[in-house]
Amino acid sequence: MNIYLDNSATSWPKPPNVIEAITSYMTDFGASPGRSGHHFSVKAAKEVFETRELLASLFNAPSSDRVIFTANATQAINTALFGLLKKGDHVIISHMEHNSVIRPLRHLEQNGIIELSIIDCDREGYINPETLKNSFKSNTKLVVTIHGSNVTGTIQPIKQIGEICKSKNILYMVDASQSAGILPIDLQNDNIDILAFTGHKELYGPTGIGGLCIKNDIQIESLLHGGTGSKSEIETHPLFYPDSLEAGTLNTAGIIGLKAGVQYILDQGMDNILKKQIQLTDYFLSKLKEIDNIILYGPDLGEVRIPIISLNIKNSMPSDVAFILDKEYGIMTRAGLHCSPLAHKTIGTFPHGAVRFSLSCFTTEEEINYTIDKIKKIR
Ligand SMILES: Cc1ncc(COP(=O)(O)O)c(C=O)c1O
Repeated sequence: MNIYLDNSATSWPKPPNVIEAITSYMTDFGASPGRSGHHFSVKAAKEVFETRELLASLFNAPSSDRVIFTANATQAINTALFGLLKKGDHVIISHMEHNSVIRPLRHLEQNGIIELSIIDCDREGYINPETLKNSFKSNTKLVVTIHGSNVTGTIQPIKQIGEICKSKNILYMVDASQSAGILPIDLQNDNIDILAFTGHKELYGPTGIGGLCIKNDIQIESLLHGGTGSKSEIETHPLFYPDSLEAGTLNTAGIIGLKAGVQYILDQGMDNILKKQIQLTDYFLSKLKEIDNIILYGPDLGEVRIPIISLNIKNSMPSDVAFILDKEYGIMTRAGLHCSPLAHKTIGTFPHGAVRFSLSCFTTEEEINYTIDKIKKIR
């Protein structure tokens, strides 16, 4: 028996059309997009362009040339932070952030480039917008927050945070690694200046693809300089999006797979996917609450969360619980700190962490019932 409840690490299985699209690219027209003028290259470029259009429409970005492809969310976040921040800037993040936000900022702080403030969250992982307001300084350039927590499933009030940042003329970047594809995200109405996403989780694409969506007037300097297939007569790197942030050959197979992932979501209806996953997560949570000696973290039953539940069994190490779940019963979860040490400090599970169960649109009630039964046995 294989029960995959580690979709927050990467979603599996992938929808059949994702596999078909990648196979078709590799088999039928696997050329480099935007480089050569032949018809395979033109077809690959058309696929890349259509993926940008699809993502721009999904996130209500001002235009598709503001959709930048990177290898993953980590590269997207690093690109934005290193390309935007200058000496003397102050940055605010929350305790619920992932190491892909914390570590580049700690690096910039330790090198004397920026000042960093990390604001507290409550025990369920929510940011209090009032705490944020009290942390602004005259040199605050950027606020970065997670959207859906990879530890607790908590959904941050991004629209409210975006409004506060806009009123203070401060840039707002959202890490949508866990929410893109399942929660509605509207760059323009939510006042998000920069959105970082990854393609291989709730967007159902393959690993190795992610990106940024950037508001019109924000200039991010490129970390990389090189070939773009455009302006080849010039010896310096182009300054226009998306080329300026996409040096080198793109992950075309990944982009085409991501396009199919987004198409799958749109065909199923994002609302339907969300509704089904909320119901199943609530069902899981309600069953877990009936079991003695289970400690649950994050929002309570009835509060909307992304489909992630972290728990501990009293007097057990999370790594032992995850090991037994996998070894004895074929249930795949993730134990530990989930690259988010500060989030675990917030919910009181540092240093050993918790066992995380993360669902996808392919998770069934039977799988949840089986999992509940085995958690009872281990307990
Ligand atoms: C909240 C959050 N941010 C960033 C990342 C990094 O994503 P990637 O590994 O695709 O770079 C993850 C991945 O687990 C995540 O959960």
